[in-house]
Amino acid sequence: MRAVVLVSGGGTNLQALIDAIRDGRVRNTEIVCVISNYAGAYALTRAKEAGIPACAMQPKSYGSRKEFETALTERIREIAPDLVILAGCLLKIPAELIAAFPNRIVNIHPALIPSFSGQGYYGLKVHEAALRRGVKVSGATVHFVNEELDAGPIILQKAVEVKDGDTPEILQRRIMEEAEWQILPAAVDLIAQGRVSVDQEGLVHIR
Ligand code: GRF
Repeated sequence: MRAVVLVSGGGTNLQALIDAIRDGRVRNTEIVCVISNYAGAYALTRAKEAGIPACAMQPKSYGSRKEFETALTERIREIAPDLVILAGCLLKIPAELIAAFPNRIVNIHPALIPSFSGQGYYGLKVHEAALRRGVKVSGATVHFVNEELDAGPIILQKAVEVKDGDTPEILQRRIMEEAEWQILPAAVDLIAQGRVSVDQEGLVHIR
C-alpha cells in the first residue's frame, strides 16, 4: 500500500508510522511522500532522515487559497497513493481532494470523537477543553475524512486516563504516547491488510 502523509508540525505521529513500518508492525505499506503545509515543520526533517521524499506546499506561496487547493490535489493525484494519512495536519482538506479519495484519507484526532472535535478543536485547545469539562477519560480517534470536520467514519479509538493535576501539555503528551502513536499505525496496518470496510450507514467494520 502506497501512502502519502500530510503534516504541519513536529511529526511525532509521522515518526510513529515510520518506526512501525520499520519494525514490521505496519505491513506492506510504504510512505512514498510527506507533504507539509509549513516549510519549518520538523516533520519534514524526520521524513528526510528516514529517506522519504518530502516537500512543503504552503498556502501563502500561491495566488489564492483555491490555487493552493488545486495544486495540492493535483500533486496527490499525480502520486496516486492508495491512502492519504493526516498526521498532525492542521490544514483544512480541500473538498476536491476528499472527493478524489473517498474513504481513503485518514486523520488522527487527539480526543474521543464526537467529544472535543470539530471547528476550533485542534492541538492543545482539545486538551484545554477536556480539562475544563472535567472528563475522567479522554483519548484519540482515527477516522476517515469526509467533508464535515472530524465527523467521518470512526476506525479506531483508544481511551486514556485524565489524572488530577494534569495540565493540557501533560495530557497531550500522555494521549500521544498511549493512544495516538499506537492507534494510527494500527489503523494503517488494518487498512493495508484489507480488513477495514465502511457500510451504507457510514459505520466501520474490521474483519
Ligand atoms: C498533536 O496534538 C496531535 O494530536 C495532532 O497534531 C499534534 C501534533 O502532532 N494530530 P505531530 O507531533 O505533528 O504528529
